[in-house]
Order: sequence, then C-alpha cells, then structure tokens
Amino acid sequence: MTTARSSTRPQLIDDVAQLRQRLASAREAGLNVGLVPTMGALHEGHLSLVDACRRECGLVVVTIFVNPTQFGPHEDFARYPRDLQSDLQLLAAHGADVVFAPQTEAMYRDRHCTYVEMTGPAETLEGDSRPGHFRGVATIVLKLFNLVQPERAYFGRKDFQQSLVVRRMVADLDLPIKIVVCPLVREPDGLAKSSRNVFLSQSERGRALSLSQSLVTARQMVSDGQADVAAIVTAMREKLAAADVEIDYVAICDRDTLRPLEKLDGPAVALVAARVGQTRLIDNELLEGPS
Ligand code: PAJ
Repeated sequence: MTTARSSTRPQLIDDVAQLRQRLASAREAGLNVGLVPTMGALHEGHLSLVDACRRECGLVVVTIFVNPTQFGPHEDFARYPRDLQSDLQLLAAHGADVVFAPQTEAMYRDRHCTYVEMTGPAETLEGDSRPGHFRGVATIVLKLFNLVQPERAYFGRKDFQQSLVVRRMVADLDLPIKIVVCPLVREPDGLAKSSRNVFLSQSERGRALSLSQSLVTARQMVSDGQADVAAIVTAMREKLAAADVEIDYVAICDRDTLRPLEKLDGPAVALVAARVGQTRLIDNELLEGPS
C-alpha cells in the first residue's frame, strides 16, 4: 500500500558487495528489479521516473552518483548540487526500496582504465559540445547495469540524446534490459526541470524560459505547415537571441539517428542548448512533421 511505503525510508547502500547481496535476496524472493540512475539533487523530473519504476517493478533501485567522468575539466562537477538527506526523504515518499549512493572510489577504483566509446548518436550535439561526456555516461551506465542487472531501467526524455545513446548501447552490447524513456517534466511556465535550475538568478530564470519558448515556436510553425528546417531554426535562434542567452546549438534532427534534417517529412526532434549566465541548459521537443 502506498501509505505504508511513504513512511519507510529506502535502504541506503554505499558498498558494492552489500548492494549485490541485497539484489540477490530480492531475486530469491522473485522480485523484478527496476533501476533509476541519477546524479541526485532530485526534483519532480527524477521522481516521475521513480514513480514509473514503482508501478512496474517489484524492487525499485535508485542510484545517486555525481559521475566525474562525464564532466569536462572546466565544467560544473565541483559545484554540482548535492543533498542526500533531502533526496532520501523524497525517495521515501515515492516508495524507492534501495538507494545506492557510492563514493567515487567505489565506482572508479585505483587503476581504472576501461571506458565505453561510442560513435553515431554520441558524436553530435552534446557529444560535440562536451567532448568525452557520453564516454563517461556510457561507462557509468554500463557499470550500474552490470551491478544491478535490472530487468528495466528508467531514463527521462529531458536528456533526449542520452536516452538514445543508452538505447543504442543496450542494443549493440546485447544487454537484456528494457529501457523505458519517460516524458519530460516542466515547471508550470514551461522551463524544463533540471538540477541546475538552482544556479539561476531571478533574472536568469526569466531568460531561461526562452529555451522552452523557442521549442513552442517550432511546434507552432510545424502545425502551421512549415516544413523548412532552416526557417524554423532561424525563428528559434531569434527567440533565444532576444533573451540574450548564449546559444550552443539549435538543431532539428531525425529521432533515431540524430542526423540533422533539411525538410520535415516525419517524426523529428528539436533540440537546444544554451548558456544562461554561467549555467548551461538543454531542452527538446518532439515534432510530428506536417500532416
Ligand atoms: P540526472 O541529470 O540526475 O538525471 C537522471 C535522470 O532523470 C535522467 O534519465 C534524466 O533524463 C531524468 N530527468 C532529469 N530531468 C528531467 C525532467 N525534467 N523530466 C524528465 N526526466 C528528467 O542524466 C543523468 O543524471 C546522468 O547522466 C546519469 C544517467 C545518472 C549517468 O550519470
């Protein structure tokens, strides 16, 4: 029952051997295991993945690990928000069973030298702007998959390219894991929920709205029959420039390969990345193409 669950704190584990033991006993009890990988500083976006996992799995494992290998040397690893106590409270209310929150040394032991390198959808957009980012993501996600061996793993469409990269890795490496991609959760005014939103000052918070608004513009243009990608991208860029944010990329791509499109003639995805002050934000929206 949900009321019983909401008062129970999840079991907090930071040790690999203890995690394996806990999973072995869950499997003996016949539970199917669901995994929600996160970097913590949890918000409703993350919690929607936990809720989906809770509905579909007997044992809900959430991982909290700010993974150093997916941050570039000049990125925000050191100042990335961390609040384990608040995360645990939220996860208790959402019925998580196990929280695995290891120290860096438990995941990257001395002499670690094995990494997952990917081409294809990992090489464009975020891959271009953040060299080595998906190498770090794929490596930690594969490690977590190997540790937890879940039947199902939950990712958010907020990180559209990441979910594609993970789906490709799972297919390419024959991992017996179902990847569930959950909808993007937004603030009431449209801003995509992100752990990094806490970095925004009040005025930056206002300017950050231009990301989701540029995607609304794209959707409107498509529903008005516009199929020329260059025209849509120009309008999106104008929206972002008017808010004085520093555009990293604006792209309209094939949903499966992330190849840039010239004409919209089927399902596509619009993706934006921009810096608002010191904070780099990303957002995306699915486009259906003119009917
Ligand atoms: P993190 O940014 O903490 O996100 C964890 C998961 O929550 C990701 O799958 C992300 O897409 C999802 N998420 C974040 N904001 C969301 C929103 N507004 N709506 C829906 N889902 C949202 O992504 C990572 O961590 C890391 O790269 C990780 C996969 C854990 C590997 O280190």
